Amino acid sequence: MAIDADFWARRRVLVTGHTGFKGAWLSLWLQSLGAELSGLAPGAPTRPSLYELAGVGAGMSEYSADVRDLGAVREALARARPEVILHMAAQPIVRRSLVEPVATYEVNVLGTLNLLECVRHAPGEVQAVVVVTSDKCYAHQPEQPRRRFVEGDPLGGADPYSSSKACAELVAAAYRSSLFARDHGPRVATARAGNVIGGGDWGQDRLIADVARAIASGDPVRVRNPGAVRPWQHVLNPLSGYLLLAQELSRTADVARAWNFGPREDDEQTVSWLLARLSALWGEGLSWEAEEAGNPPEAAHLALDSSAAERELGWRSHWSLPETLERIVQWHRAERAGADMRAFTVSQIEAFA
Ligand SMILES: NC(=O)c1ccc[n+]([C@@H]2O[C@H](COP(=O)([O-])OP(=O)(O)OC[C@H]3O[C@@H](n4cnc5c(N)ncnc54)[C@H](O)[C@@H]3O)[C@@H](O)[C@H]2O)c1
Repeated sequence: MAIDADFWARRRVLVTGHTGFKGAWLSLWLQSLGAELSGLAPGAPTRPSLYELAGVGAGMSEYSADVRDLGAVREALARARPEVILHMAAQPIVRRSLVEPVATYEVNVLGTLNLLECVRHAPGEVQAVVVVTSDKCYAHQPEQPRRRFVEGDPLGGADPYSSSKACAELVAAAYRSSLFARDHGPRVATARAGNVIGGGDWGQDRLIADVARAIASGDPVRVRNPGAVRPWQHVLNPLSGYLLLAQELSRTADVARAWNFGPREDDEQTVSWLLARLSALWGEGLSWEAEEAGNPPEAAHLALDSSAAERELGWRSHWSLPETLERIVQWHRAERAGADMRAFTVSQIEAFA
C-alpha cells in the first residue's frame, strides 16, 4: 500500500502538536499532499524549532489550545471539523516526567481523553483518529531482555512518561471498545514508534539536538547510556506509517488497534555507534562523554517487531540508519548555511515519498 495522494488532497486533517518536531515534519508533508490542514498546540516547544524555521504555520489553520482544556479542544474541533486526526501533542521527555509527573500525566492521558471525548460529541465528522504513543509503553520483561515487542505484549512503563503513554493506550482502547460504534463510529488506532531522529529536532535530551548543540559550542556531547541499543529511525519512517494507518482506518475498522512502527533490525544500534557514525559524517571534531549519575533507569535494549504493519498496511522502514544519518547531516549543514529550510525539508520529504 502506498500513500494515496487522492485520499489526502482536500481532506480535513487535524494534527495536534503540529509545532513539535514530528508535528512540523508531518504538517509539511500533509501540506504538500494538499490536505486542508489544522493544528492544535500552545506554541513551539523549543527555540529554534523546525516549525518556525520552515514557516509551518503559514500553510494551515492554527488553534492555540492546551489539550488539558476540554472546552478549548471542543472549540478547535468545532471550527476545524476534521475528518482525520493525528494526535501527537504530548509532554514527550522522560527526564521532565520525573520532575513534573502530574503535568506529564495530565497532558498525555487527560489530553488524549479530552480529545477522544470531543470526537465522541462530533459524530459523523471524524472518521479516523491515530493516537501516537511510544515504544516505551511496553512493560519491560527482565527475563527476556532482548525481546522484540509485539503489539499484544503487556503495557507498562517504569517512569511517568512511559507509563502515561501506556495509560493513553488504555484510554484509546476503552473508547474504541465501548464508546465508538465499530461500523460507523470514529475509528481509533494507536501507533508506537521510538527514537525518532531527523533534521530540526532541538528537544531536551534528544541525541541529534545534543550533537548539533555540541558542534556549535565545541563542547563534548553528554550521553546518558552509551551502550544502550535503540530502535533509531528517520522521522519520515514512522510518519509514513501514521499516514498509511489513517488512510486505511478511514476505509476499514479492521485496522482499529495498536501498531508498531520500528526500524529494520540492522538499524538497532547503540548510542555510541550512532555517535561514531555522526562524527565521521559531520567531519568536525565531535567528542562525547558518559554522564555519571542521576539518570532514570532505562532498558538497555528496546526493539519493536513491526511485522504486522509490514504485512497488513504494506508499511516498511524506508530510509535505513546510514541514509538517515546522511540526511540529518545534510539538513543541519543546509540550516547552518542559511538555506530556505521549508524548501529543503520539503525536498527531503519528496525524496522519501
Ligand atoms: N521524538 C521521539 O523520538 C518520540 C518517540 C516516541 C514517541 N514520540 C511521541 O510523538 C509525539 C510527538 O513527539 P515530538 O518528538 O514531536 O515532541 P515535541 O516536544 O517536539 O512536540 C510536542 C508537541 O506537543 C505540543 N504540546 C505539548 N504540551 C501540550 C499541551 N498541553 N496541549 C497541546 N499541545 C501540547 C507541543 O507544543 C508540540 O507541538 C509525542 O506524542 C511523543 O510522545 C516521540
